[in-house]
Amino acid sequence: MKGVLLAGGTGSRLYPLTRITNKHLLPIYDRPMIAYAVEALVGAGISEIMVVTGGTHAGEFLRLLSNGEDHGVDRLLYAYQDRPGGIAEALGLAERFVGDDDVLVLLADNVFGSSIRPTVERFAAQAKGARLVLAPVAEPEHLRHLGVPDLAPDGRILRIVEKPEHPPSPYCVTGLYCYDPSVFSVIATLEPSARGELEITDVNNHYVAVGEMSYDVLEGFWGDAGESIDAYYAVNDHVRRHGANRPA
Ligand code: DAU
Repeated sequence: MKGVLLAGGTGSRLYPLTRITNKHLLPIYDRPMIAYAVEALVGAGISEIMVVTGGTHAGEFLRLLSNGEDHGVDRLLYAYQDRPGGIAEALGLAERFVGDDDVLVLLADNVFGSSIRPTVERFAAQAKGARLVLAPVAEPEHLRHLGVPDLAPDGRILRIVEKPEHPPSPYCVTGLYCYDPSVFSVIATLEPSARGELEITDVNNHYVAVGEMSYDVLEGFWGDAGESIDAYYAVNDHVRRHGANRPA
């Protein structure tokens, strides 16, 4: 299984901090944010990784991660996204790198308290399709900034709604996505959304529609450090006190 870390975008919700650097290079406790995402993949046994980034600070990722050896990565590649055309567009840049393998995609502003290895192992045992990780989120205000699944009484995902005004469940879709190689033909069919992006939620709704979407529900800590300045500091506080990516 290959790993893809998405570290492009504008980081506009953290302006002005992100006017002078890429969001994923901002500190979380004692390391740049992306170091936790690399650690999450390596801790799950994934050692071939592509980092997709963009904008004016892309070179700093090379300075930080180099060839990956110091981070336990066997093969580290980089791709450059010309403009922030969406999460699905950024993933599309990894098509040739992934080839016929399965792929684990992680948004590099997502931080997990515990190892993501159990999800990776369950996906490896899954015949095909996609797998998500849902996290319970108490406050509807918070859910309005995220992807939210509409769940049937038997627990099946009926559809995922991106940034819903009225969240259909108390769960969010975290930024950890497992796909078989068919994901690249799904991306090729996408049309830009109202905000001009190729949406990962449209990719996920494809797998929901064809009945090939599975999911896990997270028990430990999860945070999207790019959601707001308060979320950024909540993630910092958690990691400073409890660490991240703790072995299961
Ligand atoms: O964090 C979880 C949420 O992430 C999900 O619940 C949502 O369904 C999903 O759409 C996403 O929402 P965000 O609003 O947080 O996405 P954002 O635009 O902040 O992008 C997330 C990451 O993807 C960010 O770390 C940078 C990367 N990215 C984003 C864009 C738009 C790219 O690499 N290229 C891009 O063009």
